Amino acid sequence: MARQADRHELYERAVQDPVHDVQFLQEVYRRVRRRLPHRLREDFCGTAAVCAQWVKAGKGNSAEGFDLDGETLEWGRRRHLDPLGEAARRVILHAKDVREPGLHRADVTCAHNFSYQVFHTRAEMIEYLESVYRNLEDDGVFVMDMYGGWEANEEMEEERYIEGSDVRYVWEQVSYAPVTGRQDCAIHFRFPDGSELHDAFVYHWRHWTMPEMRELLSEVGFTRVDAWFEEIDEDGDGNGTFSPTDTGINCEGWLAYLVAYK
Ligand SMILES: C[S@@+](CC[C@H](N)C(=O)[O-])C[C@H]1O[C@@H](n2cnc3c(N)ncnc32)[C@H](O)[C@@H]1O
Repeated sequence: MARQADRHELYERAVQDPVHDVQFLQEVYRRVRRRLPHRLREDFCGTAAVCAQWVKAGKGNSAEGFDLDGETLEWGRRRHLDPLGEAARRVILHAKDVREPGLHRADVTCAHNFSYQVFHTRAEMIEYLESVYRNLEDDGVFVMDMYGGWEANEEMEEERYIEGSDVRYVWEQVSYAPVTGRQDCAIHFRFPDGSELHDAFVYHWRHWTMPEMRELLSEVGFTRVDAWFEEIDEDGDGNGTFSPTDTGINCEGWLAYLVAYK
């Protein structure tokens, strides 16, 4: 089963929710700008699932996706863009570094699933955020997700079933170096026949903290940076709803967004 599996399909089913992503991006933009955004830039877009959902969400919407991995972009083109027909013309995918300029400045730029953590030094992160800032419209908004909590730097493995399937998704935090903040992580998939797609995706990241990222966003020029934390239910589990907060919720593992207004 592992040999026949499609790692991109499993990844999307396990960790992505493009409908929620697009609604959230529209909500945080509209809240402050009092109108809907139309141009999206999806950095580290992978299979461009968010770009595709964005153009589906409105006839006046267009999207540009950036990812270095041509094979992943091609998979996304076949899976998400081809079925869109005419609307696919409103999506442009660039097999380029996220620090490259796009064709148009964006109303909203997103960097999801923590991918910006490929930048390990302050200088690299500043260079990336400066390019995000430059490539946004004058009233543009940048949205990035973050994780933290006291389990965030533990070496551990977390396993759960992919919803509606008998395949298990495994998130492994392989190592963490306190001196540099380097964190190596991996995604595996386990199948009911006992086979495993090991290291389906591997990440060599620096785990950035929220205060660090807020300061860097302000430093490159963003005038307002809001934190949106996932609300938790009585058992302390995330309930999928995010709301703005000045303090956040301290727990073993939290998910949040930083929303930076130009
Ligand atoms: C964790 S995946 C994110 C996929 C998708 N955005 C999501 O939300 O699930 C990280 C992606 O970032 C891409 N990537 C890593 N460094 C990059 C860079 N400097 N410029 C563009 N893409 C990069 C990788 O090719 C990979 O597809």
